[in-house]
Amino acid sequence: MKVLVTGGTGYIGSHVVVKLLLAGHEPIIIDNLSNSEKTVLDRIFEISGTRPIFYEGDVRDVDFLEDVFEQEPDIVGIIHFAAFKAVGESVKEPLKYYDNNIDGILTVLEVSQRHNVENFVFSSSATVYGNPDKNPIPETALVKSSTNPYGETKAIAEKILKALVVSGANIKTIALRYFNPIGAHPSGLIGELPKGAPENLVPYITQTAIGIRDMLFVFGDDYNTIDGTGVRDYIHVEDLADAHIKTLDFLQKNKNKSFYDVYNVGTGNGTSVMELIKTFEKISGVTIPFEIAKRRSGDIASCYADATKIKRDMNWESKKTIEEALEDSWRWQQNYLK
Ligand code: NAD
Ligand code: UD1
Repeated sequence: MKVLVTGGTGYIGSHVVVKLLLAGHEPIIIDNLSNSEKTVLDRIFEISGTRPIFYEGDVRDVDFLEDVFEQEPDIVGIIHFAAFKAVGESVKEPLKYYDNNIDGILTVLEVSQRHNVENFVFSSSATVYGNPDKNPIPETALVKSSTNPYGETKAIAEKILKALVVSGANIKTIALRYFNPIGAHPSGLIGELPKGAPENLVPYITQTAIGIRDMLFVFGDDYNTIDGTGVRDYIHVEDLADAHIKTLDFLQKNKNKSFYDVYNVGTGNGTSVMELIKTFEKISGVTIPFEIAKRRSGDIASCYADATKIKRDMNWESKKTIEEALEDSWRWQQNYLK
């Protein structure tokens, strides 16, 4: 199946493109390279033996998208990754985030509707649950207003998809709510490319381990959790990529002409910051210097998935361990991010 992958040279997109190629699909990548590099295409080729079709351009550019659809007339599905994702930056530059993340999905939907694309997968986030009332979090939990514009763009994009389906459009859509993607391809050839100082925990740990950062700051040790530090559901990006392949299959097999649904993509297990540091030290043999700092504004104590719905409907569940994910993140850091 020909699948348009917006943001396909990015962290999650590149892993999904590899899986699509290995599963015999034909991914068509669109990316403006605002947060990724063209060399990712060479790495994808090295891993999969196939060079994916690539169009450099912006998903907000209607003429560019029309041109891609004209050149690729048989696109059956879209996986829409292209967006900005840095929470802190979104607080400082909200217009940039609303513009890219909202105008981006609107334009892709508008043009793809003209070309009758019937299957659409959207990269949402567990951030839409805000501070959840309970853990593990089921999809039925309230979508709460976010403390940051990035999170708001995900909640708004979900509403846009729902409204499109309610309008009677001929489109089957699923929003995948990712928990905390970590890890890299086991080859060490593709992974996450953080810009500047990472906001997320695992890239900060690997950068500290390799000496780019002096020490890690643990944001709070007084939460109501197993050891007082924040608990999250860390999912290997390879497992997350598999979930996209299963979602596409599920959409294609589904006989309904039009529907919208949401699925959590997580392991179902929570891991604390301290547990993650200890596990990293064990697998890498490197001691991580750290200091307990004050809580990060907007942070919550615990967030982990009830992942039973995606298992029930698509027979997907995470397979890789935290140890494997950290080994792969560490290999990627050592190989490419010195
Ligand atoms: P990423 O930044 O590595 O990848 C996004 C890609 O989209 C980049 O290659 C970037 O160049 C491209 N892009 C951005 N704006 C574009 C535009 N206007 N036109 C064309 N290309 C554009 O991010 P990622 O971690 O791979 O995340 C992918 C998606 O998953 C995003 O929508 C993100 O919000 C969502 N998500 C990510 C996480 C996470 O922790 N990584 C968690 C939940 C949801
Ligand atoms: C962040 C985003 C969220 C996004 C998710 C996945 C915020 C407020 N939220 O969530 O919108 O969907 O990433 O990309 O940024 N930590 C430290 N020290 C660090 C970095 C993190 O102690 O240097 C702690 C945090 O307090 C948290 C845990 O590590 O308890 C995970 O943090 P992070 O990787 O930033 O992910 P989230 O906070 O879950």
